Amino acid sequence: MSAEPSWVPVLSVDEVERNGVTLVRAAGRDYIVYDAPDGLYASLAYCTHQGALLRDGYFDRHLIECPLHQGCFDIRTGEPKGAPATRPLRVVEVRTRAGMVELRVGPGRSQAESAAAGQTE
Ligand code: FES
Repeated sequence: MSAEPSWVPVLSVDEVERNGVTLVRAAGRDYIVYDAPDGLYASLAYCTHQGALLRDGYFDRHLIECPLHQGCFDIRTGEPKGAPATRPLRVVEVRTRAGMVELRVGPGRSQAESAAAGQTE
């Protein structure tokens, strides 16, 4: 298996939650697709603080607020923007091709590995 990231289709453009967040899975990991005013962005799905699922957070323009302790991230860069989140969220590239949303992700790993890592790296 190549270690290089590759483009993976995750859902159709029509399935994206308008002005909201959509949970998807690619290469064995969960990601969030964000429909921001200037286009689509994506990140790993879990907060870097204590692993809450960001799909359930409050999303506004380019910020996602964690539902558990209200840590905040800029979804364009993954930069933490509000305590208690201090570690960046891993963001991935997004594109649309032939009506599908694609994420550029690295090789997958097993569910057990993902659970052990809390998918927060
Ligand atoms: S789990 Fe997200 S801020 Fe604590």
